[in-house]
Amino acid sequence: MTSKRSEWNSNITFILAMIGSAVGLGNIWRFPNILYSNGGGSFMIPYIVSLFLLGISFVLIEYAVGFKFKTSLAKILYKINNKLEPVAWIILTIVFLITTYYICVVGWDLIYLVLSFTKAWGPNTDLYFTQNVLHATDSINGIFTIVPNVLVSIIIIWFVVWAIIRTNLNDGIGKASRILLPILCVIIVIFVIYSLTLPGAYIGYSQLFHPDWSALTNLDVWLAAFGQIVFSLSLGMAIALTYASYLPKGSKLVDNALVVAFSNSGFEVFNSIGIFSILGFMSISSGIAFNELVTEGTGLAFVVFPQAFNIMKTGSIIGPLFFLCILFAGITSAMALLEGICYSLSEKFDFSRKKSATIVCIVGALISSIFATASGSFILGIFDAFLNNFALLFAVFMECIIFGWVYDFDELINTLNENSRIKVSNIWKTIIKFILPVCIFCLWIQGIYSTLTQADPVSIIIRGILLAAIIILPIILSKLPAKNENYYD
Ligand code: ALA
Repeated sequence: MTSKRSEWNSNITFILAMIGSAVGLGNIWRFPNILYSNGGGSFMIPYIVSLFLLGISFVLIEYAVGFKFKTSLAKILYKINNKLEPVAWIILTIVFLITTYYICVVGWDLIYLVLSFTKAWGPNTDLYFTQNVLHATDSINGIFTIVPNVLVSIIIIWFVVWAIIRTNLNDGIGKASRILLPILCVIIVIFVIYSLTLPGAYIGYSQLFHPDWSALTNLDVWLAAFGQIVFSLSLGMAIALTYASYLPKGSKLVDNALVVAFSNSGFEVFNSIGIFSILGFMSISSGIAFNELVTEGTGLAFVVFPQAFNIMKTGSIIGPLFFLCILFAGITSAMALLEGICYSLSEKFDFSRKKSATIVCIVGALISSIFATASGSFILGIFDAFLNNFALLFAVFMECIIFGWVYDFDELINTLNENSRIKVSNIWKTIIKFILPVCIFCLWIQGIYSTLTQADPVSIIIRGILLAAIIILPIILSKLPAKNENYYD
């Protein structure tokens, strides 16, 4: 049984699905802190350079490859060179493992959405988050203590994602994107406009865009910009490649890539104005210094923001809107993160979309349940540091080398230029072949360094298990014979 290839029913569905895949937790809770701690306004320079030079370039490679081969990542790498198939499964396993904790964070958000209507978190939001919501032990000792509310919310998110991806492309991912993305945009516009009207908002946005030019000479700032682009545009996660493989003939690749990349960056910059305005309001209302309020994502969304909603008159309206925004952005990204692995499993083992989605979601939910224990947030931190700083960058690097050097790169340039109104020039070739791998390599070394600085025995064991999974599972999946007779064509 070889099912008919899926195809987007319109270009707008593709664009919305791509924007939905890019706009996620990275835009809402990661970007504001990265922007602030790397020089504020002056960070926009490395950010824009990274966006053009690296982000858009990489998205273009993924579009060209997906559109040219019109098949799954595993089969594409097999076709390029059959020895490369395990690399595809390695990339897909890394992305799958990232999804297991990504969905947990979306699950925490779901809990906060419910709490936000009554501001049930009370005055001490920090304590509430760690003790009442997570029951966190901050060590491995709580691994056998299940936290029921977190487990239920993780299962709900997995169920929703499963229900979307098991349905055919246009009625599942397509429809979800067409519904959730416009709602998300309306909410974010209301959120930002409202936050600009708050007293003290100017403290926030002026801090945000107050440039610290000396930051530009700091290599870490440039690497932070590139790291943000990798995560936010979902580079190397095989999403753009998979979604582009569903594009019908006559689609415009470069044009679409530009629309998606600018929308994603526009979203995160616009959203940061709202987030910082609220922090400015909070600073003036509570007397807490502004820089103490800007924390990494989890602290910002689940500790600082609930405090802000406590003192805001309209907190019971703006609070739910904020958490709804994260929920929608998280769901549209999570479904995209899983599409690549589902498609590869379907292509190789001749599974229906429903069967691949069910297998992937059941295994994923089982892994995610580790995060629903009292040690969940502790383990999640180790997963995030290892998979995001180290493994994902390896995936991006491998794709760069394979598509830039192993595969005939000129073919990709032709594919792009034959299918776009805006043409790419040969400068792009130099960027992809030389500049991009060097930048990713530097980022990777920085990632290895930050991973290695976490050297406690538990982190080492968990990283070892993850590494084993990333090696063993792909070997098994590539060695298993394909059930689909066309797979080896
Ligand atoms: N690009 C997705 C995000 O920003 C993964 O969350």
